Amino acid sequence: MQYPEEIKMPESPKKPTLNDYLNENRERFERSLFELLAIPSVSAQSAHESDCRRAAEWLAGDFRQMNFSVKILETDEHPLVFAESPKINGAPTVLVYGHYDVQPTDPENAWQTPPFSPTVRDGKVYARGATDDKGPMLAHILGTEYWEKTGQTLRLNWKFLLEGDEECGGGGIEEYVRRNAEMLACDYLVLSDTPQFGPGQPAITCGLRGISYYELKLTGPRQDLHSGLFGGAITNPCTALTKMLSAIKDDRGKIAVPGFYDDVQRLTPEMHAQLEILAFNEDEFYADAGVSGGTGEEGFSVLERRWVRPSFDIHGLSGGYQGEGGKTILPASASAKFSFRLVPNQSPEKIHRSLETFLQKHCPAGIRMELIPLGKGTGGVTVDISSPCMQAAVRAMEFGFGRSPFFIWEGGSIPLVATFAECLTRNIMMIGLSQSTDNAHGPNEHFSLADFHRGIKTSARLWRELASL
Ligand code: BES
Ligand code: MN
Ligand code: MN
Repeated sequence: MQYPEEIKMPESPKKPTLNDYLNENRERFERSLFELLAIPSVSAQSAHESDCRRAAEWLAGDFRQMNFSVKILETDEHPLVFAESPKINGAPTVLVYGHYDVQPTDPENAWQTPPFSPTVRDGKVYARGATDDKGPMLAHILGTEYWEKTGQTLRLNWKFLLEGDEECGGGGIEEYVRRNAEMLACDYLVLSDTPQFGPGQPAITCGLRGISYYELKLTGPRQDLHSGLFGGAITNPCTALTKMLSAIKDDRGKIAVPGFYDDVQRLTPEMHAQLEILAFNEDEFYADAGVSGGTGEEGFSVLERRWVRPSFDIHGLSGGYQGEGGKTILPASASAKFSFRLVPNQSPEKIHRSLETFLQKHCPAGIRMELIPLGKGTGGVTVDISSPCMQAAVRAMEFGFGRSPFFIWEGGSIPLVATFAECLTRNIMMIGLSQSTDNAHGPNEHFSLADFHRGIKTSARLWRELASL
């Protein structure tokens, strides 16, 4: 049937389907990612302060194109990007979290291509921040763009909070979130700063460990001494340091700081069941890490040790002579950086007090010690997987990945997530897009472009699922 000429039908341009939109825009999405990856937003290094701001501005520009209202919020640390979609009254609100800052790049000479010149090899983009967290974070912005740029109205309010301090653990942003809980109020929280369980094994993370990080400085004699003249009678700070650090963990892999395990909860039968579903090959895990085996807390499997039990690690040691050849000195000082990964219910403050007393007790005569917390410390989190939003996330991942996700825990820490759980919502969906073998924090960090596109597709679908809950 033909409409009579004079009755003009309202213009209704055909709205592209999600798949068409994603296919048509693939290359632009990738170009966008490469642009963001080229900005060296290393939060830990003051020389990169303006680069961090540049990354924030770049993201803000993206939101402006989508008609979001966007603010660059000044804090005591790096700026926060806060963007909001035009408000729909009565619709649920989702807050998307991500971080635009990246880890330092050293050792620089171990990179095959420069860390801030994104390069594609074998379908993966190599650059610092590719997998942690610029790629996964951008996937959510692009998944949102579909709804905003194709003029489709979803009954969903979006808020995005993108920070630039996640990797340097200052803890200042936490205060900011607490003070601005109203601005950030939401029904759901979504982030993708956690990995998949493995290749082709998408995952939703239902718990994270927290962290408390320290520097321990030991001082001995006024200056370096001849070890022949003084050795044997003066306490050596390097020796004292190794003894004190060794005392922290016993031969059975237990942390010996008094009270350390007091608040650690036993694994529930449900958790055991959930862990048992996962086909995890310990030998493969060790082989991937380039080792022939490992040690850990007695009585626990590798997955339990990595995800749901606390741990202790030394990150760096210094002191004494490190130069060429030998030099027989008794050094004046020594220091170490170390941290504990904490599980839910453990309190960083309580552990701090006990640790201080414990180390004082183990500090030998002739040595002065200084224990310096680096950052405020953050507790572990668990999210409630029985909440209906989790099933929405499962459906979105099935759509994006063509497979059902696993429910896993992760051993890494995202300091703000504990604050979100406490102040905003417990409906936290941690949608894993990256792989644990993507070399996050290490040289040759990369992110699979296939995972990037699956992530965009998952995200776009998740918004529809959440809007219809
Ligand atoms: N994305 C990671 C957190 C993570 C790592 C989650 C592995 C799940 C598995 C985050 O960027 C990170 O590296 N966090 C730091 C926090 C620290 C600097 C306070 C971490 O876990 O070491
Ligand atoms: Mn991260
Ligand atoms: Mn990280």
